[in-house]
Amino acid sequence: MKSRPYGYPISQPNERRSSFDNHIQRRLSALRNQFADGKAYQAMLDSGDALVYEVYENRRPEVAGELLSGLSIVHPGCVGNEYFMTKGHYHSVRETAEIYFCMEGKGVLVMESEAGETAVEEFYPGRVVYVTPRWAHRSINTGGEDLVTFFVYPGHAGHDYATIDATGFRKRVLDHGGVPTIVDNPEWSGVNA
Ligand SMILES: [Fe+2]
Repeated sequence: MKSRPYGYPISQPNERRSSFDNHIQRRLSALRNQFADGKAYQAMLDSGDALVYEVYENRRPEVAGELLSGLSIVHPGCVGNEYFMTKGHYHSVRETAEIYFCMEGKGVLVMESEAGETAVEEFYPGRVVYVTPRWAHRSINTGGEDLVTFFVYPGHAGHDYATIDATGFRKRVLDHGGVPTIVDNPEWSGVNA
């Protein structure tokens, strides 16, 4: 791990492998119970475990004062009429924020707080989304190309995937005749604050 300031290029796809020291691939099987249409999910899984999203990141010490940064790439696709999305998470240390900068593609960041507030912010190239502390967040690709975002968050934030895995998000984003539409999630199973 570097002990001096450093830079790295991220705009070209062929730069990703050399600019980052960790690469995570999340397939459909990692998103069990997250899509509304269970039949469509199973049918898609049976025909091959599709690659839904990838994360490239640079490791740093996971302590306050450091920043973790990388690229999130959500591939285009749908399970039934629900767009491909990330697992979504709270930060383990709730009082930590995050910044996303959209480089390519089209989508949204769906967010919610444990107090029951919800927010959806658009992603398009050049747009920044600031996730305030205490808000869970999930990237969703509503376009036909890769959704590529650059993210930065505090080194000590950590990831809490379990809360969202258990409850889902309060909002879903569905393709209604080609139009991304935000709907309430009737399967949301958390405790209403
Ligand atoms: Fe995060």
